[in-house]
Amino acid sequence: MSLDAMVYIVFGVSGSGKTSVGKALAEYLNIPFYDADDFHPEVNIQKMSDGIPLDDEDREPWLQLLAKNITDWNRKEGAVLACSALKESYRDTLQSIDSKYIKWIFLDGSFELIANRLETRKNHFFKKEMLVSQFETLEKPKEGISIEIDKSIDQIINEITSKLKINTSEIGLIGLGVMGKSLAKNLLSKNFKLSVYNRHVDGVEVDVAKKFVAEHSEYKQLLGFDDLQKFVDSIEQPRTIMVMVNAGKPIDLVIDALIPLLSKEDCIIDGGNSHYKATLERSERLAEKGIHFLGTGISGGEEGALKGPSIMPGGAKVAYERSGKFLEAIAAKDKNNLSCCTYIGPDGSGHFVKMVHNGIEYAEMQLLAETYQLLRFYLGKTPIEISNIFKSWIQNGAKSYLLEITSDLLLKKEKDDFLIDKILDKAGQKGTGGWSTVAALELGVSLPTISESVMARNVSGIKAKRVHASEIYQLGKKQFSSNETTFIEHLEKAFIATSIINHHIGFELINEASITHNWELNLSEIARIWTNGCIIRSMLMEQISQLFFKKNDTSLLLFPEIVTTMKLNIDALSEIVGTGLKAGIAMPVLSSAINYFYGYTSSQSSANIIQAQRDYFGAHTYQRVDKPLDQYFHTNWKN
Ligand code: 6PG
Repeated sequence: MSLDAMVYIVFGVSGSGKTSVGKALAEYLNIPFYDADDFHPEVNIQKMSDGIPLDDEDREPWLQLLAKNITDWNRKEGAVLACSALKESYRDTLQSIDSKYIKWIFLDGSFELIANRLETRKNHFFKKEMLVSQFETLEKPKEGISIEIDKSIDQIINEITSKLKINTSEIGLIGLGVMGKSLAKNLLSKNFKLSVYNRHVDGVEVDVAKKFVAEHSEYKQLLGFDDLQKFVDSIEQPRTIMVMVNAGKPIDLVIDALIPLLSKEDCIIDGGNSHYKATLERSERLAEKGIHFLGTGISGGEEGALKGPSIMPGGAKVAYERSGKFLEAIAAKDKNNLSCCTYIGPDGSGHFVKMVHNGIEYAEMQLLAETYQLLRFYLGKTPIEISNIFKSWIQNGAKSYLLEITSDLLLKKEKDDFLIDKILDKAGQKGTGGWSTVAALELGVSLPTISESVMARNVSGIKAKRVHASEIYQLGKKQFSSNETTFIEHLEKAFIATSIINHHIGFELINEASITHNWELNLSEIARIWTNGCIIRSMLMEQISQLFFKKNDTSLLLFPEIVTTMKLNIDALSEIVGTGLKAGIAMPVLSSAINYFYGYTSSQSSANIIQAQRDYFGAHTYQRVDKPLDQYFHTNWKN
């Protein structure tokens, strides 16, 4: 028995559907249903059957009795009462308990609609005058909720539960994989009422959501479903539903299944690594149905998802204004305690920015791999020594999450061996680095560190061919014979310079996309939400955010502070690349960084030769340094 249970009073004129709706609501809530007509005293029943209308005096004892019962129901398990309660004074009499325990549900419909319904009711004699008098008596309520009755009972119940926030969740999450579960726990820890859904696949995914709920019984606000309709119904409107399934076909399957169940103004958040063009298509498809879509990049892996990831939502601003609060609450916090989630921009810009994040991530990872390779196989350092070298770089100011984990993973042992030596040298990839490369090509932007890191993964993938080629060439191992301390100092500087160049390259791509697509991206904010929670968080990112805060429309390599750092480190980078190449060590990212830098800082490139060649064999024309740039020239080269 519970004290102070809710009493729901469903009211309206005859024919508005009080009884049917009341019964359905009671069934939904699993509480008793009462029809007010069953509480009339004998004398009223007699009057009514004699066709004499009841007056207010007749109604008084009836209303008093109902009021007494409402008090009782409130002390027991609650109830749903269907009652005409047309006048304000009747409702005042019924209001026998604290108003917070009575929910007034007014069923509203036009005279024509109700008259029509009553006329078509089987075995029902419809008196138009009676309905006219009911409408005359009706005083529309100021309190409670009003529901238009021109819809199915299910839809009405849906609207009632949603408007009254009965048993409803504030947000829904689809897909209880590793990331989905972690984000669900994160949302729960922020006290959001949450519904989770996971599909049912016989023998493979069975009762996943129910088990998740059972495992987290400490959260009272958690509902689990494997029925999509029930899941959707359990979320308050307008709904926010976060989808954490694999990018590509799975997300489309989920969206297709959701569309018929959702209402206008609902919002779907795709938190996977979707391609930004697919995100744009999806948002346009959903916009036709009045449904919002936030294509949202989420970085930070399983731990980030649980404790606070970096979140990059893109789509309609109005969708973010409504649903962004959930994302901001669960994101990591920056050093000023601001959320590492910000509205990125329209269309697929959120997923575009996440894609470039991953591109930068690929190149930073490859940079560390190359650095390790030089230290391990050229200098002959042990994993422990390399780990310590990386630690000293962190202390010197190059702190980054990727440097930290690399320093850490080198120490991992399996019995007497380092685990790193047991791991096959074939890198996997899910595609975001390659997508960045394609985007750069489409936008005409140079992306060498990132594209080279993708290619390096591709080369790593042809293990058998590499082994075969190494046997044929027998290039042998070059011995290190210079000053070790100097080499490590140079390597640290080369690492710093390459990392800056790589970040510059990534931000150039974002900036170009922003200009081309009119996204008006805020580079400082993007860097700020990357200062915590995400895989590429670092001290450098803190600096980048501050620099772009001063000036948003410039290139990273042009900030005076960066110029100073680059001048201190660039010679070391060319030194390391030269030495490393002579030693026969592949350094795609280190060497592409120095190549890019020299190209970027050259006032005279070699492209005049390219232009001459193009004109020579194809009459493609060229511009001249001594003529206006809108003029094009062709030369007959063979005469
Ligand atoms: C992140 C990661 C994350 C995932 C990458 C890995 O920011 O949390 O980028 O999204 O680890 O998708 O991508 P690859 O499998 O392509 O290396």
